[in-house]
Formats: sequence, C-alpha cells, structure tokens
Amino acid sequence: MSSLHAPRSFFQQPFTVGTLTVPNRVLLAPLAGVSDVPFRRIAQELGAGLTFVEMLSAVGIEHRNPRTLDMCRRHPAEARLGVQLTGPTAQRVADAVQFMDALPFDLVDLNMGCSVRKVVAGGSGSAILSTPERITETVQAARGATHRPLAVKTRLGATRRHLTIEDTARRVAVAGADLFTIHGRTRNEKYGQPVDYDGIAKGVAAARAAATRPLITVGNGDIFDGADAARMRAATDCDAVMVSRGALGNPWVFRSILEQRPVAPTISEWRDVVLRHLDYQEMHYGDTRVAAITARKHLLWYIKGFPHHKPLGDVLGRVERIAAAREFIEDYVAQWPSDLRRFSGAQQGGARFAVNSKYDPKFDMNRIHDRGAGNDTEG
Ligand SMILES: Cc1cc2nc3c(=O)[nH]c(=O)nc-3n(C[C@H](O)[C@H](O)[C@H](O)COP(=O)(O)O)c2cc1C
Repeated sequence: MSSLHAPRSFFQQPFTVGTLTVPNRVLLAPLAGVSDVPFRRIAQELGAGLTFVEMLSAVGIEHRNPRTLDMCRRHPAEARLGVQLTGPTAQRVADAVQFMDALPFDLVDLNMGCSVRKVVAGGSGSAILSTPERITETVQAARGATHRPLAVKTRLGATRRHLTIEDTARRVAVAGADLFTIHGRTRNEKYGQPVDYDGIAKGVAAARAAATRPLITVGNGDIFDGADAARMRAATDCDAVMVSRGALGNPWVFRSILEQRPVAPTISEWRDVVLRHLDYQEMHYGDTRVAAITARKHLLWYIKGFPHHKPLGDVLGRVERIAAAREFIEDYVAQWPSDLRRFSGAQQGGARFAVNSKYDPKFDMNRIHDRGAGNDTEG
C-alpha cells in the first residue's frame, strides 16, 4: 500500500476485501476464550475495524457441537464480523465453510497457525505447515465453498530452521484468498521471542507477487500501542495490522493506533467502558455464574495500570455474579479523583504496563467455562 501516507492517515483508511468494506486498518484477532460477543462489541466501539469469532473446529461444526454453534452468535450491533475455522482435511474445512455460508458472517478465516498441542495432534491449526500441498488444497476447497471474502492466518513456519512463509504466502495467494494474516513467529516460538518483522515482510512480498486478485496483507505480533503498529507497517509494508494480546484489558489500543498517540483513559472513562462490557456480558450470558466467570479474566486485565489494584483483583478474580463485579468496580472508582489516568506514574502512556511482550495470557485465564475448539485453543 502507498508509503506516501503518514501512519496516522494510513490506519484510518478503509479497505475492501472481496465484497466487504472495512472502515480502517486495525483488526482484532480471533482470540480463544476472549473474543466473544461482549468483548468484540467493546473493541469495535473503541475502533477495531474488523473482529473475529475465535477459532472454531470444523469437526465441532460437523458434529453440530452445541458449544461450537453457540459461539456462532452475532449481535446486531456487530457491524462487521469474521469467523475462523480449522480442520484436519481440506474437505472437512470446506464443509464447515459451506455451513458458515448460511450464517451471518462477513468473512471466513482459515487458521493455519494454531500451535496448541491438542489441535496440532488432531491435524488442525499449524499442523498443515508440515504438508504444504494441504495449504493449497484447503484454500482452493474453501474458495469453492463460499463467495464471501476468504482469509488465512498463519505463522512463519514450523521452526526457525524451517521458515516456510514465502511458500505458504504464494500458495494462499494463488489459491484465491482475499486477506492474509502473518503472525511473525514460528510454531514452536513463545511470546518471549520478539516478532520477526523481516519474516512477515518476506511473506507480504511473496503473497503480493503471486496474487492474481486483490489481496490484503495483515501483520500480527507484539502490537501494544500506536507506535508498535506504525513499526509493524513500516518494517513489513503490510496493508493492515491485527492486535491480539495488546487488546486484553486495553481496548483503547485501537484508538492509540488509529490516532497515533498514547491513549490512557481517565478512571471515569475507564469505568464507563468496563461497566458497559459487564452490561454486554450479562446480556449475552444472562445473569449467570458463567457470565461472571467468563468476565473475570477481562476484569483482571482491565484493572492493571491503576493504583492499589491488587485487592480489587483478589475479589474480582472470585466474583460469582456480574452485579457484584459492578459494585466492586464502583467502590474502587469512588476512591479516586475522576481525572486519574491509567498508567499515570512511571509508565505513563504505555499499555505495555498492562501486558508486556513476553506475557502469555493463558496463565491468567480460567478456561473452565470457555467453549470451543478443543476447549483449549490458541492460534
Ligand atoms: C488467549 C489467546 C487466544 C488466542 N486464540 C487464537 C485463535 O483463536 N485464533 C488465532 O488465529 N490466534 C489466536 N491467538 C493468537 C493471536 O491471535 C496472535 O496471533 C498472537 O497472540 C500473536 O500476537 P501478539 O504478539 O500481538 O499477541 C490467541 C492468542 C491468545 C493470547
């Protein structure tokens, strides 16, 4: 995309992917156990141009697994929504894509990057990287199963000694994908390994060179604020960026990227968003224990960056009802001046304080009530 644009105007530019117009170039990743309706609504309200349902298993869809189907719900307020699928064979993925065609999704993404052992052992996620022909077959079969925009999300390869991103990129582009996201790590790399911009750049260039139709490239990895997004774009020449851990507890990251400045909400702005998230949580899951339990991880992420949040975390981490969470939040907020800013103090303006680049959120997450592919997924 045009390098004539300064970063700010670049991220605010709309793009089209197949029949879908996305109003800006900042996407929220599919996030297992996290990117449910309530969080997606909040992310979109704060600027995310496109959001995704977390990875769903084609096998779960084949068996009409009620938990998988439940995750296909879309709220009318969700203006644009993608869904992500993975499966052990091209045919099974294509069948799931066809099933999705009857549902109100704007785009279907194929996961070719998930490194969770159980998922890979079942032949899904990044397992496909070991059999490159399967990449071509899967994208072709999915392409034949839908007229909707088709996307692929992958990693740089299986290991550092076996970087296959250029081959993957060519296969994905030639087989007819409309959008291609590259997470700049290999299958066996953890978050302690910084994202490899050069690897992403190679994938972006290879995909562009091979594409026979318009293809949007997306850079993913270690984006926690506007500066990180600008760096990703400058170093890789990607068309858009996708935020993952950087959005956990910090949906303001979308504004920071779009406006290219640090965004640290005041405690009163923060309160409004957190309480609205809880309202959406209750609307979606009902006034239930599950609503409270699935909110816990978000609440523990949200409270980072304010003073003396630990005692609040102790109670929110055990909360059993949304109403109780609301009360704890209100009591906490009442102690502070309404213009207190998040991350004020030494770490001013930095969402890195909330989640740093080595941080693996799985360890914070109570997955007992999470639903989905294998119950324990992470792309
Ligand atoms: C809790 C969690 C759940 C994830 N779930 C998915 C998923 O369902 N599908 C997917 O493609 N990637 C998933 N990922 C991977 C992220 O989308 C992203 O590729 C990765 O975290 C790198 O970006 P980051 O360094 O900005 O976090 C998940 C990551 C986390 C932390």
